Amino acid sequence: KITKRERLFKINDLTSRFYHKILVDSKQGKLAREYLQKRGINLETINKFKIGYAIDSWDSLLKFMMKKDIKPQELLDLGLISPRKSGNGYYDRFRGRLIFPIWDSRGGVVAFGARILGQGEPKYLNSPDTPLFNKSYHLYGINLAKNNIRDKDMALIVEGYMDVIACYQHGVKNAVASLGTAFTKYQANLLMRYSYNLGICYDADAAGSKASLRGLDVLSDLGCNVSVINLPKGLDPDEYLQKEGKDGLELLIKDGQSLIEYKLTHSMENNEIIAIQGKLKVIEDLAEDLLKMKSFVLRQGAIDLISKKLGLPSETIISELKKINQEVK
Ligand code: GTP
Ligand code: MN
Ligand code: MN
Ligand code: MN
Ligand code: MN
Repeated sequence: KITKRERLFKINDLTSRFYHKILVDSKQGKLAREYLQKRGINLETINKFKIGYAIDSWDSLLKFMMKKDIKPQELLDLGLISPRKSGNGYYDRFRGRLIFPIWDSRGGVVAFGARILGQGEPKYLNSPDTPLFNKSYHLYGINLAKNNIRDKDMALIVEGYMDVIACYQHGVKNAVASLGTAFTKYQANLLMRYSYNLGICYDADAAGSKASLRGLDVLSDLGCNVSVINLPKGLDPDEYLQKEGKDGLELLIKDGQSLIEYKLTHSMENNEIIAIQGKLKVIEDLAEDLLKMKSFVLRQGAIDLISKKLGLPSETIISELKKINQEVK
């Protein structure tokens, strides 16, 4: 006899195999196969990530499950179907979309992400939170990445499904994605089982840099060693790999910025540092992080960097920091 939870895992597994088979092995999957091919995803990768396709029908999954004697209530619990507005019957959540199964670190299917083929809104539709899934606890790709994260002693954190998949296909096998939400401390704890060295490689756009900054604080407060990997403007890791390949990405990873360097760059972009007030504002922006640094050597290194970038003597910066420290006390 199996528990309710084990049964839900079984149904999710069956669901992922159902959608995967349609993608790789049916006439109805042809457009989806062409879409993936256009995006450079090969069959080996499709199989590795068990990518699937939900045809554009109201009840293809529902009908399949009914034949297997699986009750609507369990599919409802898993967020795979919804009740019809009329009150009678149900319809499939995922229709006309690519399906990305999301696994926990032990390889159980906990949820699904689903992308529209081409343009449209919403671009991605995910499972809701369910008894098996909470989006602030899970990381896409963790099951495939965990051993590589341990071996390389570093995890790469990217934004999206396609970024994880492209990284893997190019041989960068330590990438995980935080499923479109801000990076949480639970996700950080999950990664820290495998390594304390985390590289954030978000999309080089406004949303990505905002998310990076938020993620950085979560991670550094937990004592991780964080670096920020900067892609050229407008690109995400998937697009960068298409252009520059694995070697290109690995060079950028090596050039990752420390937390303080990254915040310095960001603050200098937002302040007119030609004016002395702008320089002061930059120091104020960084003060909290500088004062938090436990190592005197690392702090002096950071101050020297700021001194060079702002064209101010380090002694002046140190005096200013002392003053700020007095004021917060
Ligand atoms: P592609 O366009 O397929 O390359 O996807 P992308 O990963 O580059 O998309 P984007 O950078 O816009 O978003 C990053 C991640 O945020 C996605 O992989 C999703 O996890 C999530 N996301 C993006 N758009 C949506 C959306 O409309 N709804 C939800 N729930 N999540 C989204
Ligand atoms: Mn988006
Ligand atoms: Mn993005
Ligand atoms: Mn992309
Ligand atoms: Mn993107």
